[in-house]
Amino acid sequence: MKTARLVVDPHHPEAEPIARAAAVLRAGGLVAFPTETVYGLGANALSASAVTGIFEAKGRPANNPLIVHVGAREDVAAVVGDWPENARRLAERFWPGALTLVVPRGANVPDEVTAGGPTVAVRIPDHPVALALLRAAGVPVAAPSANRSGYISPTCAEHVLRGLDDRIALILDAGPVPGGLESTVVDVTTVPPRLLRPGLLSAREIEAVVGPMVRASEESPSPDGPLPSPGMLARHYSPRTPLECVTEDGRKRVEQLRDDGLRVGWLTFGPVPALVPPGVVALSMPCDPAGYALRLYAALHDLDEAGVDRIVVALPPATEEWLAIHNRLSRAAAR
Ligand code: TXA
Ligand code: MG
Repeated sequence: MKTARLVVDPHHPEAEPIARAAAVLRAGGLVAFPTETVYGLGANALSASAVTGIFEAKGRPANNPLIVHVGAREDVAAVVGDWPENARRLAERFWPGALTLVVPRGANVPDEVTAGGPTVAVRIPDHPVALALLRAAGVPVAAPSANRSGYISPTCAEHVLRGLDDRIALILDAGPVPGGLESTVVDVTTVPPRLLRPGLLSAREIEAVVGPMVRASEESPSPDGPLPSPGMLARHYSPRTPLECVTEDGRKRVEQLRDDGLRVGWLTFGPVPALVPPGVVALSMPCDPAGYALRLYAALHDLDEAGVDRIVVALPPATEEWLAIHNRLSRAAAR
């Protein structure tokens, strides 16, 4: 299948491309679209066969459930079974936004979406194109990040097409996303809630509304215990190039690998030093979490494209505000 790429204004999406994409979704096809976090790969969440298409296109394991996207609060009722008090409070405060709530599932949500489990993940994205698409489609849209399973999430249309060109019907190309990191996933079926995946919305902001959460995202699964919660696989969000993290500036490690004859990509924390060893591709990363989030996946995509043999990342500080970035970097480094 040839993938149609429709360019659309990120702030004032034109009606024609939105209508075409909505028609594809209603007919059971796959549409990649921008959200405020990363590009998603959408299908009609109420159609088991449409959702199966997502798993095929991504090569995603069937036991990893999907986030259902809706365009308005009242649309949540169609996919959830119960709406806990903490869901009400968090949705009220943060939707539309980069927060995904895990709640009891509704009866008409297919098992393909929830991986057969008793809960469903749902959010309202905060991007004019995503919202226009959801409204025009008139159905809830299941959408994981629009990348091949395990790989880095896409922050622009080029990233999506590198992995999924000719595997999906259509992409709405609204340029680079404003956020760059996935949504924060919180399970509100328990009190206290459980943080399943740190993300663009900080844990601190969420805890200001619902009190302290259980940091389930940072628990390492025991080898003979039950499977970790979905999406908590150690290796994920990984570039093709082996990646390692270091706690100092990284220069010693970069020089050592270079001396071993490897081509090295170096993500520095802050400005690139004046003297970069020859043959090393150095990229400067911002020193604030939001700036870093916006740059991270694009930098990893760039280094993969540059064909380096190894990526060395100088870690940001190990403080709370860097939780989501550390989470992604440690998963990217896991082999
Ligand atoms: O920012 C985002 O969340 C993007 C955009 C497109 O919305 N989507 C995204 O989807 O990152 P995906 O599939 O790449 O990640 C969804 C995460 C996974 O970790 C998955 O395991 C978890 O949400 N998840 C989905 N349903 C769940 C459920 N019922 N219980 C627990 N975790 C769930
Ligand atoms: Mg993903």
